[in-house]
Amino acid sequence: MRDRKSKKMKMGIDILMTVLLFLLMAYHYTGQMWHEITGTAMFVLFICHHVMNRKWYLTIGKGKYPAGWISLTVMNLCLTVDVVLLMFSGIMMSGYVFRFLPFHGSVSFARRVHMTAAYLGFLLMSFHIGLHMGSVFGRIGNKLKEQEEKKRGFSLLRAVLLLLVCVVSIYGIYALNKRNFLGYISGSTMFAFFDYAELPVYFFLDYAAIMIFGITAAFLIQKIITGGLKGMAGKMKKHFTEHKKRYVILAVVLMVVCILFFVFGGLTYVRRHYRTVSVNRSQVTKTEKVDMNGKKGIIIYFTRVGNTNFKENVDAVSSASLMEENETLIGNSELLAEMLENAAGYPSYAIKTKKKYSSGYGATVSEAKKEMDANTPSELENDFPELSEYDTVLLVYPLWWGTLPMPVQTFLEKNDLTGKTVYSLVTHGGSGFGSAVQDTGKYTKAQVSSENLSVYDDDVTEALPEVTAWVKRIAGLN
Ligand SMILES: Cc1cc2nc3c(=O)[nH]c(=O)nc-3n(C[C@H](O)[C@H](O)[C@H](O)COP(=O)(O)O)c2cc1C
Repeated sequence: MRDRKSKKMKMGIDILMTVLLFLLMAYHYTGQMWHEITGTAMFVLFICHHVMNRKWYLTIGKGKYPAGWISLTVMNLCLTVDVVLLMFSGIMMSGYVFRFLPFHGSVSFARRVHMTAAYLGFLLMSFHIGLHMGSVFGRIGNKLKEQEEKKRGFSLLRAVLLLLVCVVSIYGIYALNKRNFLGYISGSTMFAFFDYAELPVYFFLDYAAIMIFGITAAFLIQKIITGGLKGMAGKMKKHFTEHKKRYVILAVVLMVVCILFFVFGGLTYVRRHYRTVSVNRSQVTKTEKVDMNGKKGIIIYFTRVGNTNFKENVDAVSSASLMEENETLIGNSELLAEMLENAAGYPSYAIKTKKKYSSGYGATVSEAKKEMDANTPSELENDFPELSEYDTVLLVYPLWWGTLPMPVQTFLEKNDLTGKTVYSLVTHGGSGFGSAVQDTGKYTKAQVSSENLSVYDDDVTEALPEVTAWVKRIAGLN
C-alpha cells in the first residue's frame, strides 16, 4: 500500500517536472519573474526526485548489462551537473527570487552557461526519460499485444502508434535544427531567437517532438547496448510481413498528409525566409500625416542594405527576409523609416559605415559579433545635419546580437543629443527589443523614452498601422 503511494508520488513529481521543463523553455512567454519562480520550483522537485529515487544509487554497477548501466550512470551524472550549473548561473542572473544574494558575477558568462545548460538539459532530460521508460513501453506493448491476440488480427492502434512515434521523432530532428539547439549548446549562437508572434501551441508542439525524439533515441540505444534490439527487430519483421497490405495503405495516407503539409506549410516558410520579397514601396508606406503637436523631429536609421557588399544574386546569399522593388534591395529598417517619414513628416537620414559588411547573412552575423566583442566603434561615412534644432529623435535599427548594432552605438556616442528624447523602433528576428532600449542610455545623454516599438522582420511590410499608431502616441494623441 505504502509502496503504491510512493510510486504514485514519484510519478506525480516526474510529470510535474516535465511540465515545468516545457514552461522553463518558454521563457519568452512567461517572462523573467515567472521563469525564476518556475526554475526554483523545478530545483526543489529535482531534489525531491533524487531523495525519492535514492535506492537507485545502490544499484549502480549491479546491473545485468554493464555497458547499459555505465551509459545510464554517466547520463544521469551529466544531467545532475547540468541542473546544478543551471541553478548557479540562474542565481547569478536573478533579478527577482535570488536578488538578495550577494554573489552576482559576470552576467554575460552566466547567460552563456545558462543557455547552453538549458538546451543541453532539455535533451538530457529526454534521454533520461527514454532510458527509464523501458518498463513503461514494455507494459504498453504487452497490453496492445494482448488486445491484438484477443481480436486475432491486426491492431490498428499499435501500428498507428508505432508510425506516429517514427514520424514525430523524425520531425523532432527537424525541430531540433529549426529551434537551433546545436547552436545554443555549442555556444556558436549567443542570443536566443524567439518568435514572439508565434502561437504558443506551435512552440510547445515542436518541443514535444524534440522530447519524443530524445526518448525514442535513448530507448533504442539502450536496446542496442543490452542486446534487446535483435529480438525486437525479429518480432517486428514477422508482424510487418503478416500485415503488409495494411501498412502500405497507412504509409500512402501518411505520405499524402506529409506532401500536403510541405506544400501548404513548408513552401510558405521557405518563401518568407530564404527569398527576397517583392514590395510596392509607396503602397506599403503610404499613411495619414499625423499632427506632431509642435515636436520637431528627425529620423535616423541603420539597415543592412547600403552597408553590405551584396552580390548580384542576392537570393542565394542573403538567407534573410530582405525586400526588393524593381531589383533594388530595401532594408527592413529603411522601409520602417519611410513609414515614419510619411506619418510624422520628419526628414530621415541613414547611418552609413565606411567598411561594408560581407554579403552572406552568416558572415555579417559573425562580423557583427566580433566588433561587438572587441567594442570597436564603427567608422561612419556621413555627417548628419545640425541636430540642435530637433527635440525628438526617432531611431530605427535592426536588433543585432540582442542589442543595438555597433554603427548605431557609434552614432549615439559621436553626436551630442543632450536635451532630446530618443524613441526606438527596433526590427528583429524574434528577440523583440532584447536589451536594446536599456542599452541606449549607455551611449547617449538624451532622454530614452519608454514609448518604443518592435516589429518582427517578417511583419515589416504590414507594419504601417502599428507604426502610425506609434507615431500618434509619440505626438501625444492617444
Ligand atoms: C548581425 C545580425 C545580428 C542579428 N541579431 C539578432 C538578434 O540578436 N535577435 C533577433 O531577433 N534578430 C537578430 N537579427 C535579425 C535582424 O534584427 C532582423 O532580420 C532585422 O529585421 C533586419 O533589419 P534590416 O533589414 O534593417 O537590417 C540579426 C541580424 C543580423 C544581420
